[in-house]
Amino acid sequence: MENNFDVIIIGSGPGGYVCAIRCAQLGLKTACVESKKTLGGTCLNIGCIPSKSLLNLSETYFKAKNQFNKLGIEADNIKINLSKMMNNKNKSVLTLTKGVEFLFKKNKITHLKGTGSVKSKDTVTVIDDSNKKTDYKCKNIVISTGSVPSSLPGVKIDEKIIVSSTGALSFEKIPKELVIIGGGYIGLEMGSVWNRLGSKVTVVEFLDTIIPEMDKDVSSEFIKILKKQGINFKLNSKVTNVNTVKNQAIVDLTNNQNEKRERLQCDKVLVAVGRKPKIDQSIINFGIKTDEQKKIKVNKKFETSVKNIYAIGDVIRGPMLAHKAEDEGIAVAEIISGQAGHVNYNVIPAVIYTSPEVASVGQTEEQLKKNNVKYKIGKFPFLANSRAKVNNEYEGFVKILADADNDKVLGVHMIGPHVGEMIAEMALAMEFGASSEDIARTCHAHPTHTEAIKEAALAVDKRPIHF
Ligand code: NAI
Repeated sequence: MENNFDVIIIGSGPGGYVCAIRCAQLGLKTACVESKKTLGGTCLNIGCIPSKSLLNLSETYFKAKNQFNKLGIEADNIKINLSKMMNNKNKSVLTLTKGVEFLFKKNKITHLKGTGSVKSKDTVTVIDDSNKKTDYKCKNIVISTGSVPSSLPGVKIDEKIIVSSTGALSFEKIPKELVIIGGGYIGLEMGSVWNRLGSKVTVVEFLDTIIPEMDKDVSSEFIKILKKQGINFKLNSKVTNVNTVKNQAIVDLTNNQNEKRERLQCDKVLVAVGRKPKIDQSIINFGIKTDEQKKIKVNKKFETSVKNIYAIGDVIRGPMLAHKAEDEGIAVAEIISGQAGHVNYNVIPAVIYTSPEVASVGQTEEQLKKNNVKYKIGKFPFLANSRAKVNNEYEGFVKILADADNDKVLGVHMIGPHVGEMIAEMALAMEFGASSEDIARTCHAHPTHTEAIKEAALAVDKRPIHF
């Protein structure tokens, strides 16, 4: 029957579309429902991908304008053409969303266009653009509807002056003054983009540190570097009000420690205080249980409180990261086909694509202390890495935490050039249960940034060569 599937996946973000492809590979008759015009979800359309395009282009501009002349590349009259930059970003996004469409066709996945809801445990209703309702039968349902930006009480995001990450990816003019509420992933990545393009950026963060879950050594180095780049920080500050007056915004804040009040005036305000799961009311009405964070409760097999209805990605526990959702998508497809799908939550890398990049995997020093785990530390600065030095990009370090008893690597935290790529080596090492000695005895090509990893591993045993 046309409207009968083994699996219907609701949502085509990195969790949903990857799950659909893996289901199809395993021989399941698969459909994926998507309400937006293009496939790929937040990540491809208004998240990871467009932000990386702007991060890359703004960094290239910044280097050309501020560093080339010093390095012997004489370039005059370097200017930004923002609309060209945005077109380039939009073109990249379109190519990649078309790529997912192609993969759906190649794998014979049915793309159901419209908004999907759970009608019963074996029926998904899809309402299309013209409000036409169609029911589709299936043996299994996977909910991968992702997340939406959170806001603050009383603050209305209009995507013009008060924007979420979506608006901050498409400003038509470079804001003179940009206030960012929240010193997390989005705040620091988008803050970096607009700071490089010339905005005066102020980040207001409620806590006394940026990226609170990060290893403290890294976050304190990170904020020093960002301040040097010209970003202002108001830590320990609570935003009490955001208003718009004509084309300006007024942001009121109070310092949590001394209660001092301050008022900031700016062209744009980016609200980046986290995201919340996007769960259709039909799911709640249907009786699928949620947890205290309002995320869908799942068991180890990603099954919700209703048999044969699964959930993955931002709607369930764990970090809201595209690659975590992708791995869950693969695992759930394998579980539905009777295999032993599995995700190792101890080894999920995290990367912040600023310059320098920040990357980590495994436990932080603070977590090890809290859990009373005895550990050794090996740290190596990029200042002593020859490749970083010749490239004039030598801020940051690699920090490896290894078990004091058996030397097993428990966590790796890096800030520096290309660490977003380098973290893959550490994730692989941890998946294989490597010790710091294993890494130290692995030959690393010279001259590469990865030698800093080898040196940090040697430093765990207090025998680095170049420091
Ligand atoms: P986040 O959770 O990373 O950071 C939010 C920040 O806002 C926190 O530091 C928090 O303390 C602060 N905050 C909360 N309420 C506040 C208030 N009232 N006033 C001032 N500060 C306040 O959330 P963000 O940056 O919005 O990102 C959302 C999600 O998207 C994250 O979970 C992240 O994992 C994901 N993401 C990942 C990226 C990557 O992998 N490179 C890039 C962008 C987003």
